[in-house]
Amino acid sequence: MAIDATPRVQHLLGLQGMAPSDLRSLLSAAHEVATARGNVGTPLAGTVVANLFFEDSTRTRLSFSVAAKRLGADVIDLLGGNSSVSKGETLIDTARNIEAMGVSAFVVRARQSGSSALIARHVNVPVLNAGDGRHEHPTQGLLDIYTLCEHFNRSKNFDLSGLRIAIVGDVNASRVARSNIAGMTTLGAEVTCIGSPALAPRSLETLGCRVTDDLDSVLATMDAVMMLRIQFERYDGGGGGGGGKDAGAPDKKPNVIASVREYRARYALTAEREQRMKQGAVVMHPGPINRGIELDAEVADGPRSLILKQVTNGVYVRMAALRGLVGAPRRA
Ligand code: CP
Repeated sequence: MAIDATPRVQHLLGLQGMAPSDLRSLLSAAHEVATARGNVGTPLAGTVVANLFFEDSTRTRLSFSVAAKRLGADVIDLLGGNSSVSKGETLIDTARNIEAMGVSAFVVRARQSGSSALIARHVNVPVLNAGDGRHEHPTQGLLDIYTLCEHFNRSKNFDLSGLRIAIVGDVNASRVARSNIAGMTTLGAEVTCIGSPALAPRSLETLGCRVTDDLDSVLATMDAVMMLRIQFERYDGGGGGGGGKDAGAPDKKPNVIASVREYRARYALTAEREQRMKQGAVVMHPGPINRGIELDAEVADGPRSLILKQVTNGVYVRMAALRGLVGAPRRA
């Protein structure tokens, strides 16, 4: 299987630079698990998967936990606020101490880009990146791509040629967008990032996508529209972050938008805009959704929405990734 390798262990750290054959191999493995509805036995019985989550998460942490348990693994959780990192312990020491307890894999989410890669360089078990800063969220990218392939009947060869995909909103802060741009363009899709220059700067084009600030001019041409929330917790004036009670509070205005009203006027997928989408086009969102800001409730819950399908497929994608990495023989 895929991926990023130290001399002896394989990791899943990102989709940028991944070969098309490796991407397709991961998606095929997910398809096998999805076709069996996750009933693939317990190949990880006797192993322990450690979730190291130093940022808040609902979907990713629980999805990895469900995936690991369905494969027969035990799961342990270390959550940021409860760890000795708060007493000054380094991420590397934390990971090496937990490795010494006999765990078989790490699933890591952290605020700093590169955290998963850093841990991967210092441990001898697989590391799966569950989101590092603005950098990558590879299993989210894989589950989004898998869901698109499933919907558009591309699961035979995982080829996205001819599909136009919009990623709308706070693209610059989004690790989900970076993983998706990498994976989707590698498989042949045309990806357009849409937002104000502060949220979707032209520099994103170096990743292989197009960029525009005009959602209305391109909306009707898109086969899939992925909406992103504004990451309020990452901006001055935009909520506390770090898991406090104000973390990500969308009632505060971050310094990258003039006002929520103006943002909605230009970039929200409202019920009215949804009417102008192409026939058969779909709506996606990695979550968490800020309903009534980037996405209207009736669109999120409407017939075009693949959002809960993304969540269901996330378990299958993570089962495939864990099975492939934790079950993989160590290199000598
Ligand atoms: N999509 C995603 O990463 O969601 P969580 O932050 O809830 O894990």
